[in-house]
Order: sequence, then C-alpha cells, then structure tokens
Amino acid sequence: MCGIIGITAGAAVAGGEPPGGTTPGVLPTLLEGLARLEYRGYDSAGLALTGPGGLWRARAADGTRSLEDLAKRAEHGPDGAVAGIGHTRWATHGRPTEGNAHPHVDCSGRLALVHNGIIENHVELADALLADGHRFTSETDTEVLAHLIETELAGHPDGGLVGAVRAALGRVRGAFALAAVHADDPEVVVAARRVSPLLLGVTDGAAFLASDIPAILGLTHDFFVLDDDQVAELRPGSVSVVSLADGSPVEPVPLHVEWDLDAARKDGYDDFMSKEMHEQPKAVADTLLDRLLPDGTLVLDEVRITNAEFRAVTKVFVVACGSSYHAGLMAKYAIEQWARLPVEIDIASEFRYRQPVLDGQTLVIGVSQSGETVDTFQAVREADRLGAKVLVITNVVDSSMARESDAVLYTRAGPEIGVAATKTHLAQITALEVLALYLAQARGTLSVAAARGLLAAMGRLPAKVEAVLARADEVAEVAGACRDSPSFIFLGRHVGYPVALEGALKLKELSYLRAEGFPAGELKHGPIALVEPGTVVVAVATRTPVWEKLVANVAEVKSRGATVVLVVEEDDQETAGLADHVLWVPATEHLFSPVVDVVPLQLFAYSLARLHGLDVDRPRNLAKVVTVE
Ligand code: M6R
Repeated sequence: MCGIIGITAGAAVAGGEPPGGTTPGVLPTLLEGLARLEYRGYDSAGLALTGPGGLWRARAADGTRSLEDLAKRAEHGPDGAVAGIGHTRWATHGRPTEGNAHPHVDCSGRLALVHNGIIENHVELADALLADGHRFTSETDTEVLAHLIETELAGHPDGGLVGAVRAALGRVRGAFALAAVHADDPEVVVAARRVSPLLLGVTDGAAFLASDIPAILGLTHDFFVLDDDQVAELRPGSVSVVSLADGSPVEPVPLHVEWDLDAARKDGYDDFMSKEMHEQPKAVADTLLDRLLPDGTLVLDEVRITNAEFRAVTKVFVVACGSSYHAGLMAKYAIEQWARLPVEIDIASEFRYRQPVLDGQTLVIGVSQSGETVDTFQAVREADRLGAKVLVITNVVDSSMARESDAVLYTRAGPEIGVAATKTHLAQITALEVLALYLAQARGTLSVAAARGLLAAMGRLPAKVEAVLARADEVAEVAGACRDSPSFIFLGRHVGYPVALEGALKLKELSYLRAEGFPAGELKHGPIALVEPGTVVVAVATRTPVWEKLVANVAEVKSRGATVVLVVEEDDQETAGLADHVLWVPATEHLFSPVVDVVPLQLFAYSLARLHGLDVDRPRNLAKVVTVE
C-alpha cells in the first residue's frame, strides 16, 4: 500500500555536481519521486541518505502535509549524499505516527530500510530478536527486517548487504518490496521483492528504484521489472539482480514505457481527478485502438490461451474490487448477450475464501487498474491453482497480475493519480466489452459483420463522453442544488444498476456523504424506508429495456418527498419532466451506455466534494493501490 523510491548517484553528486545535470541529485529525486508516489498512501513520509557523514534519516507524519514537513526537515540534511531511499506510507501495522514512519533503522543506526507489504510472521521474529538483545522503537511489522538484516550482516559480513538481505528474507513470510542502505557501503542500495511491485532504472552515473513508474519517469523511460523473490544491488550506473533463493544471477525483464512526465502531472487542471476525467475520451479511444484485423478478427494484447480453449469455455467469473468490480457488473450483460456464456461476478476478497467451483473450462477475468490489488491478485492466483484459465484486464503493463495470467487485455488509459478511478474505469468497461465481442467471435455466437458493427458503435463512445464533459458546469449547478442533503440514494436497473453503484461509490469516497446504490426494483423490499423529504435520489433513467419500470420506481420516491435527479438522454423531455434536476447524456446503445452514463455521476461527486472543500485527489483513509488484504 505504501510507495518506495531509491536512488544511488555516487560521487558525481557528492562532488558537488548540481541537481538537474546529467546525474540527478539524490535529495531532489527522492522528494519529487515521493510527491508522485503519494497516491499510494500519504499518512506519513520519510527518507534516509548515505554519504561521507554516514546515515541520516528524516521522517514526518502529518497526513497530507507529511511531504511538506519532510522537505523542510531535509533542508537541514547532510551535504554530499550519494544514495538514498524514501517512503510514503499508508498505515497497516502501527498508527500513522512519526515513530512508525519509514525508513526504519537497525540498533546501530547505520542501516535504514523502507518496505511496502506485510511481514506475516513479524511477531515471532520480533520475539526472537528481542531475546537476542535488539531494541525496537516502532509498532510496525517492518522494523523486524532492519534487525534481521543487522543480525545476518554481523554473522556473515562477507556476503555484504545483498547476502544479508537474502538471508534475512529467507526467514520471513509475507509480501515485500523493500530497499535498504548502509553507511558502511554508502553508494549501494539493495532492493528485493515478493508480491509487492518494484521497478528499477539505470542511467549513466545513477540507478533508481520505485514502486511505480511515475516516481522515476522523469529520469528514464527504460525500466527493469524486479520479479518475485529477486534481490537487486544498485550502484551508480549499474544494477545486478540475483535470485533470493540461491544467489544465482538473474537477467531482469526490461520494460520500455512511452508515457512522458506530463502524463503524470496535472496539465493545468486544478487536480488530477479533473484532468483524468477529461482524459476519458482518449482513454476509451486508445483502448479500442487496433482491436480489429482486416479479416474482422478481434485482437487482445497477450494471449496464451488457444482458440480451442476459448471455444471450450463454459462459464465466466469476473473477480475485482471497487470500481473495477462495477466495471465487471456492467460487462456481464454484454458477455451474456453476445457470447451466450453464464457470468458470475465476485468481489475478489470473497472469491478466494469460498471454494469456488472452477475447472479448465472456466475463464476467470481479473479486473484491476493497478494489476497489484492484492485481493484480486490472490483471487486470480487461486483460480489458476484450481485449473481455470485466467485473463487479466489492467492498466499497468507488466504488473504482477498481467505477468501471471494466461491472457491480458490492457486498458490504455495512462497513469491515473487521483485515488478515485475515473478514466481507468471507463477504459475497463470498454476493454470488457471488447472481450465480450472476442468471446462471442471465438464461440461463433456473433457474426464477423455484427462484431464489426458493434465495434464501430463503440468507436463513437469517445465523442459522447466528450459531450457529457462539456456539460460539467451544468452538473456542478445540480450538485450545488443538492449540497445540503445528508443522504443520497442511487438507483438503476439493468446496465443502469452498476452505474448507480459506481455513482454512489464515487460520492461516498470523495465527499464522505451517505450514498447507497440499489437496483430500483429492490426499493420496495426495504430501501424505500430511507426516503424522506431532503433525501436526494439520483436515478439512471436512460432508455434501457426496463426504462418504463425504472420511471415507475422514480415516481414512488418522488411521491415520498425525495429530490429527484435523473440521468436523461438528450431530447427525452418525457423523462426529464419527472425530475427536479436533469443530468443530460447523449443517447447510446444500451449495452454500451454505462461508458457514457457514469460520467455525469463522476462529475456530480467531484462537484459536491469540491463544494464541501475536500481534497478530491486524496480522500481520507484511502490509497490508490491496495496491496494489503
Ligand atoms: O487497482 P484496482 O482496479 O484493482 O483497484 C480496485 C479498487 O481499489 C478501486 O477501484 C477503488 O475502489 C477506487 N478508489 C474507486 O474509485
């Protein structure tokens, strides 16, 4: 859940070369990288530097202001740092205090370490280390790693830091991406990974590591992906990787990334969420790009499943969390209608613990923007273990889930920094619908001509999304009219139901207001008891096959005093007449309509959060990538 970064730039920097030259400065690189990693967690931040003066550490725990504080403290840091590591934290073990902030140090104060993940056997390890005389200063699981490495280094100094890290990790259970520095060998940064993501980069005179691409994107476009159970040693201008198990050399997997740094910045918008909502037409268009060969065959990105295996599929499971789960719900209708396959959608954290019935003819689709969400990652691993075919839809090339699957379809949305999923969500719905067509084609349930026609219709989605975004000011006015309501109910039927769920999730995560989504037909079985004057009911009232029934449900809440906000197709005055406020959208073929209809609900949640003076990019208690269970 946390973000880590590391750099070694060696003597060139220590010798006084200015930051921003060919060799980047250690401290500015760490601070800038941490700022770009904050979406992974922001309750505290810290860094450690090594150089001629030994090891220096600074930490700050002031929520969203942690980085500001850290930068101030770093002004009093040492001159001539040659390497450093940094961390931005989302608390799991131990409260978000300065004492629990990373880096953690060993008893000597000469070794510092940052960690993302969870050490499951930390209690038993800490007991043994305490018995050996180690002193602990935090409540975290991470600190055991610093003391374990200290012990191994003292016992086997010949193996150096890499050997000590390997030996220490041989004793832990759990997930980790970590980076360590030691004052005795100040130019070296050692990194290791199991489950939690870690990337490396090398330039002339420097080497870097980070949990995620944007942190070091300004330094290089060429990365190496550290794999599970690998340990890397970074020196200025070089990286070497070995296996954690036996220390044998490993060739790391190269990864070239086209994104430029601007893509990871705000581009003049007030916040990342706004920028990312406005990038949605491009995200949808890019996800559709080059999906059709001249002979009408559809194309995924990586396929290690044969056509015969696709044809043999008898059942589909979709596993995902949050907005990705809603994208799965939206696509269920298309997969069932076009490919004539039964589809079950599962919350990933529930799936793996309920003995799902899977076999070699089951296709399990893991949907995850980050490709690192541990619940989804472990769910698809479980599906793989049970013999199912695993296909992953993700936005991050070579993410953990992408690498472990049988097939991948990438959402080409670019980096998403705002914690609330927006452009990646639209790209996920798009990708899932492309997949529905792919399955239908493989199974022969849809002709080439029909699939081509549907894909062409999808090609018109970006313009429709653009049209909704152009009405952002109107949506803000509707939000203004609802700003004092304490309670919101979102309704939809058919594909409008998951759209309603997503609208409610966006509102609650951004504005901290009570917001629940329901299938409109379910209202009279309980939720209608919540409706009273002052309740705002937002309903997706576009012309799905059950539009008539939906408007009947709307009449039920209106007669009980609710303020009614309707998502209505342009020119549909009949439906608009039922609403107190209207969110207009272009008419869209109903199976594709979630891509368009969810956009005014994003804008609505965004506007309400801004009206309440809240930080839309960093809602409280949330992190962008959830790598803990
Ligand atoms: O990276 P993932 O798509 O696996 O993330 C899943 C959820 O954590 C994510 O969609 C979350 O619900 C967002 N905050 C929604 O805006």
